[in-house]
Amino acid sequence: MDHFLYRDGRLMAEDVALDDIAAAVGTPVYVYSAKTLLRHYGLFAQALEGLDHLICFSVKSLSNLAILSLLAREGAGMDVVSGGEYARARAAGVPGERIVFSGVGKTREEMRLALEGGIRQFNLESEPEMRALSEVASGMGVVAPVTVRVNPDVDARTHAKISTGKSENKFGIPIRKAREVYAEAAALPGLEVVGIDVHIGSQLIELGPFEQAYRKVADLTATLRADGHDIRRLDLGGGLGIPYTRSNEVPPLPLDYGALIKRTVGDLGVEVQIEPGRLIAGNSGVLLSRVIYVKEGEGRDFLILDGAMNDLVRPAMYDAWHDIVPVAEPAAGGATRDFDVVGPICESGDTFARARPLPELAAGDLVAFRSAGAYGAVMASEYNSRPLVPEVLVSGDHFAVIRQRPTYEELIARDSIPEWL
Ligand code: LLP
Repeated sequence: MDHFLYRDGRLMAEDVALDDIAAAVGTPVYVYSAKTLLRHYGLFAQALEGLDHLICFSVKSLSNLAILSLLAREGAGMDVVSGGEYARARAAGVPGERIVFSGVGKTREEMRLALEGGIRQFNLESEPEMRALSEVASGMGVVAPVTVRVNPDVDARTHAKISTGKSENKFGIPIRKAREVYAEAAALPGLEVVGIDVHIGSQLIELGPFEQAYRKVADLTATLRADGHDIRRLDLGGGLGIPYTRSNEVPPLPLDYGALIKRTVGDLGVEVQIEPGRLIAGNSGVLLSRVIYVKEGEGRDFLILDGAMNDLVRPAMYDAWHDIVPVAEPAAGGATRDFDVVGPICESGDTFARARPLPELAAGDLVAFRSAGAYGAVMASEYNSRPLVPEVLVSGDHFAVIRQRPTYEELIARDSIPEWL
């Protein structure tokens, strides 16, 4: 359930009409609904009720400061994967003890930044990384709380580019090596083992793979405790999928996911942590774009939009489907036409959809890409020197620009021509 619904013939974000936002801010623009974000966060909170837990929002999915601040006020922690994301979480007011640092390639500078600013835990992904953190922390005279990310060799049955829990993926250490790696972690100076971490992939649309992975983690908890480690926290990652279309793909509900967590690890006496991104942010945002031209081609008609693959790369990168809906409500049962929906970028990959049945549309009309809140704005670039897409947050009947559209001057000002040229 989200808060993008038609009212009096106009698509609304909560109580604000999207055409009003387009008129005020221009297009393309991402629009988020605060109510939807909070609702989705609340579903996880409800699902984990009764368990000692922390929901760490996956900052990579949507990293605008206003969004992080909104969630932080609800008590959310943050899962970050770079110094930049760490800085964002801190700038949004998230205390260090609610920030988890994930990722396979943390640099020593990033480790130092987090140790100085405060950190809940580092999720370590390899022995070399573990040794580096030990050196950095002991050099600073501090102790870094750590988990090791284990790779449970489970098939998440999702898109290959976003599956992370198979043994051939670059993530974590093989679960069969865990005892050895934990023994080394416990022996290294500057590290304190606090738990285990696992994350098997994104956009999972069944619970089976989670169940397999969490059972393995539960077994490992017992083994590592028997080895003398104080395993008091389990980080179970993110990955719960969302419906991208109204028809197929019915992902599990957070409540069922929560029940699964309780069933698999609920009686271990651990604090449970999860790192959802897409389920909180995905259906909380749309990309609003305007039709520039309707071009009648040979055997196909093109809807040429002012939004492009640099603004929303998921269709080009993963063949992802996003529902595309007109902002002016189409007549029920009205005629449709098949359009190839494309952007203005100079490559054929700049295609959002092929032969998509849409109501009659004309130049100047607005469309919204649904389910674009997660991995939308954060993956945007300035390819073709198109200014980075702006972002707007709606709450009730008001909205605010939470990231300005850069001017051409700002776009150019970051470059410099060396004086010797
Ligand atoms: N934790 C870790 C360690 C992760 O690597 C990820 C996502 C998450 C949590 C959050 O997963 P979520 O709940 O959002 O599924 N750009 C791709 C998705 C990449 C996901 C990467 N890792 C896309 O647009 O589909």
